[in-house]
Amino acid sequence: MNMSGRIPREFINELLVRVDIVDLIDSHLPLKKTGANYIARCPFHTEKSPSFSVSRNKQMFHCFGCGASGNAISFLMDFNHLDFVEAVEDLAAFIGVDVPREAVTYQQQPETKKQDLSQLYTVMEQVAAFYVQQLRNSSEGKKAVDYLKARGISGDCANDFMLGYAPTQWKPLLERFDAKALMDCGLLGSNDNGEVYGRFRGRLMFPIRDKRARIIGFGGRVLDDSLPKYLNSPETALFSKGKEVYGLYELLKKNAKPQRILLVEGYMDVVALSQFGIDYAVAVLGTAASRTHLELLFRFTAELVFCFDGDNAGQTAAWRLMDAVFESLKDGKSCRIMTLPAQHDPDSLIREQGVSEFTERVQTAMPLSQYFFGLLTSTINLFEKEGKSDLAKKATHYLNKLSDGVFKKMMMEHLIMLAGETAVKNISTSAPALITNSKQQLTQGRQPLPRLALALLIQHPELIGIIEQREIDWNSLKFDGIEKFNNILQTILQEKPVNTGALLEYYRGHSDELIIKRLADLQLDVPADNEVAEFIGAIDKLSTQSTADRRRWLLKKLETTGLTPQEKEQLQKLTKVK
Ligand code: UTP
Ligand code: MN
Repeated sequence: MNMSGRIPREFINELLVRVDIVDLIDSHLPLKKTGANYIARCPFHTEKSPSFSVSRNKQMFHCFGCGASGNAISFLMDFNHLDFVEAVEDLAAFIGVDVPREAVTYQQQPETKKQDLSQLYTVMEQVAAFYVQQLRNSSEGKKAVDYLKARGISGDCANDFMLGYAPTQWKPLLERFDAKALMDCGLLGSNDNGEVYGRFRGRLMFPIRDKRARIIGFGGRVLDDSLPKYLNSPETALFSKGKEVYGLYELLKKNAKPQRILLVEGYMDVVALSQFGIDYAVAVLGTAASRTHLELLFRFTAELVFCFDGDNAGQTAAWRLMDAVFESLKDGKSCRIMTLPAQHDPDSLIREQGVSEFTERVQTAMPLSQYFFGLLTSTINLFEKEGKSDLAKKATHYLNKLSDGVFKKMMMEHLIMLAGETAVKNISTSAPALITNSKQQLTQGRQPLPRLALALLIQHPELIGIIEQREIDWNSLKFDGIEKFNNILQTILQEKPVNTGALLEYYRGHSDELIIKRLADLQLDVPADNEVAEFIGAIDKLSTQSTADRRRWLLKKLETTGLTPQEKEQLQKLTKVK
C-alpha cells in the first residue's frame, strides 16, 4: 500500500454516499427512532435525557445540548479520537473497502517512504526491547539503573514507560538489525565523510509512542553532566516532533478520558509525575507546543493545564504559546496556566512539596482569561485613551483567532469592560448577519428570508438539480450576506453534494464551517417535499424585495441629487417590470 499519497476527494464523497450515518452511529451507541430522527444521550457531554440526534436525510448528527455536529467522518474523529485520515480509514473499513491513495510524484516522495513502514515500526519495537534488556541485564546498564534509583524512579514506573539503556558500543545494533532500516529509523547517523555512527550511545532511553502504541522515536539522556543532555530522534518517516507528544499513549492506557492533561517540558517530568501517581502529564519533545499538539490533546480532554517555569524564559514561553492556544480553543474546552516557583520543574517540585500540594497547584492554576488579560494589562495604562486602544489592538489579535462561541463572546465582553466599547468597536469580529440575529442564538421556526433560503439549500443540496431547471434571477438578489450566499451556492452547483453531510466535507477546516453547521442544524418549519417550492418562493420574494428596494432608492435619488444616465435607464427597466 502506498502510505504517502493523498486520499482522493472522489473517494471521500463516495464513502459519504455509501455509508449510512444512522447505521454507523448505531453501531457505536444504540439509537432510538423518534419521528424522522434517531436519538441518544450525547456521547460528547454528560446528560440525563437525550438531545443527540442523527438525521438520515442530512447524514449528519447534531446535539441540541452541547452543539456538537458533523458528518460520519466527524463522528468517528470525535467519538474515537481519530485524526481525519484515521477516520476515513475506519469508515472505509466499516463498509469493507480499501482506501485508495493518489499516485505520488518522485519529487514529493523521499526515498524512505517507498519502504513499507510496518517494517520500521517492528525494528523500533525490537530496538526498544533491546535497550530494556541492556538496562536490566548488562553490566553497563547497571549505571542507568542506579541513575534511575538515584532519581527516585521505581522499576514499575520504568516498566510503564519502557525505559532502556543504549550502550556506548552501538555496533551490536548492526548485528541484530538491518542497517538500512536502522538508518531510516533515525537510529544511525552519518557524518560528512559518509561514516556511519550510532546516534544514541551511553544514554538512558525514553521510547516515544504514538497513540496507536507504535514506537516512532526515542529521547536519550546522558547519565552525567555531559552535553547535549538530551538527544531526540531526528525527523523520520515515522517521527515528526511537531505532531507528537511524549507520554500520551501511556496516559491514555491508564485513563482514556482524563479530566485534564498537564503539559510539561521534560521527559523526566512526565515519568517522575507518573511515579507519584500523577498520570495525566505529557511533554512536547524539545520544541514549543503548536496548534497541532494542542488539538491532538483536546481530542482526549476538555482541559489543558500548561506548566511553565517561574523564570523569565518560562514566562516568555508561556506567552508565546498564546497563538496556538487561541487557535485551538473551542467551546467546551479550556486552558489554565500554572507557574512554578523559580528554580523548580514539576519533577523537583513534587519531590519537595509532595503530591497533594502539587495537585492543589494544578487545580488552582490560573484560568486563561485571567492570565491573558492580567499579562496584557500589566504594561498598559488603562486610564489613558492610548492605553485602551493599545489593549484593544493587542487583545483582538488573539481573540480573532478564537472560533465563534460562548468563550469568544465572554472574552470580547471582558475586553470591552477593560478597554471600553469605542476602542474595541473598530475591530470587527462579529459573525455575518446571515447566521446571527439580535438574540444571539438562532431560534427555531420562522426565519428571515435570506437565512431561510440558505438553510434550505444547505439542508437539501440534493435539490440543486431541480432548482437549476427553474429560471431564477440570481443577479437581482441584494441582501446582507449575499456574498456568502453566492459562495455556498457556487460550491453546491460545482460539487453537487448528495446530502448535507457531504456538503459539510467541503468546508472542513474552512472559515465558513461553523456557519454551514449552524444552518444545517437549524430547524425549519418547512413540510417535507415542499422544500423546492419553499426555496423558490423565498428567492422570488427576495428578488422582488431587492428590486423594490433599488427602485425606491433610485426614486429618492431622483428627487434629491438626480440620476446618472445609467441609473435612469435602470429605473425605467425596474418600473416596466412592475
Ligand atoms: P530540561 O533540561 O528541563 O529537562 O529540558 P528535564 O526533563 O528537566 O531533565 P532532567 O530533569 O535534567 O533529566 C526539558 C526538555 O527539553 C528537551 C528535552 O525534551 C527535555 O526533556 N531537551 C533538553 C532537549 O531536547 N535537548 C537538551 O539538550 C535539553
Ligand atoms: Mn528536570
